[in-house]
Amino acid sequence: MTAVRRLSLRDLRSYERAEIGLGDHLTVIYGSNGAGKTNLLEALYLACTGRSCRTANDRELVRFGAAAARVELVLELDGDEHHIGVGIAPGQPKRLTVDGSSVERLSDVPLRPLVAVFLPDRLELVKGAPAVRRAHLDQLVAALWPGRVMARRAYARALAQRNALLGRLRAGRGSDGLAAWDLELGRHALKLRDDRRSAVERVAPLMAQAAEELGLVGTVELRYRPRSEAVSAEAFAAELTERLSSDLERGFTGHGPHRDELLLMRDGRELRVYGSQGEQRLALLALLLGERDALAAERRHPPLLLLDDVMSELDADRRRLLVDRVGRAGQVVITTTDLAHVPGTDATGTVILEVAAGSVHEQVAA
Ligand SMILES: Nc1ncnc2c1ncn2[C@@H]1O[C@H](COP(=O)(O)OP(=O)(O)OP(=O)(O)O)[C@@H](O)[C@H]1O
Ligand SMILES: [Mg+2]
Repeated sequence: MTAVRRLSLRDLRSYERAEIGLGDHLTVIYGSNGAGKTNLLEALYLACTGRSCRTANDRELVRFGAAAARVELVLELDGDEHHIGVGIAPGQPKRLTVDGSSVERLSDVPLRPLVAVFLPDRLELVKGAPAVRRAHLDQLVAALWPGRVMARRAYARALAQRNALLGRLRAGRGSDGLAAWDLELGRHALKLRDDRRSAVERVAPLMAQAAEELGLVGTVELRYRPRSEAVSAEAFAAELTERLSSDLERGFTGHGPHRDELLLMRDGRELRVYGSQGEQRLALLALLLGERDALAAERRHPPLLLLDDVMSELDADRRRLLVDRVGRAGQVVITTTDLAHVPGTDATGTVILEVAAGSVHEQVAA
């Protein structure tokens, strides 16, 4: 099994130097606002994935006044220790290393731990535009079946080509040739749709179960709604042909998996529209937990679960349900401003990290 053992940070965000150890199950990071709790979660995410979960601009990660930031993760895999290093220096390419050797990206490294993160702004996944949920679904497909990531890339490429061709036709330049592209697009579209459907089929029952265990009242459903139900590339191409005049008018393709929807529902209504804050939060947690179960079944190891400030909007009963639910398998890290919001921190082996102004103090429950 994979376990994340230790993380060291150098000049990352508010930390000059810090080293933390993680518990086998629960690790709680607590401290006041601005103390550096989320910074530690971000550092864990960075070390597992090679990128931040908060920003696309790596420069922000380097401590003010420092030249470079670095994190190093020690993990245990089937009894052996491995090291993952991420170095960030503004103006230079990111340096990723696994056991001392450089790698291009961590997503291709089999031993890197999978990670699932809840940040308050991830509620966008429930509340935001369909594109956010599509992108998430595609990431899930890639995490479940790394080999299938090509389907989405191939579809995106073919779509861009078709759109370029539409643009030329619209401008009266270029001859036809659309039929061949439509078939090509259809082949990738069907594959992508089937992958997305399989992923939703895996996760939906697990999410519903997690929702119930977290105390989300009502029937929770994750529903995939593809634009096209075509059974062959030819049938998909025919659907495109039917819509050709409107595509030519707009200059881009209006039909296909890039318009699919992933719906989160409670009692038949969309949580995006009708859910309360707490319900949306619980639904997002249930989705992440359902995915984690699906990944654990498919890929040997459940992902490391990072929960940032998740307790603040939950009532006392649901806090307890959440801690019970996440503590069952795998490792979880929870940040909080108030230790009393995390029930069960006295369980044996729980690691409690108190952070204040760039330093970390560690306690382990006996
Ligand atoms: N590049 C950086 N260099 C130094 N300090 C930074 C950098 N980026 C952010 N900080 C500081 O880190 C602190 C925020 O840390 P963090 O977000 O981890 O707080 P937190 O403990 O999660 O607080 P809250 O409870 O409010 O969420 C801020 O004071 C911010 O100024
Ligand atoms: Mg925070």
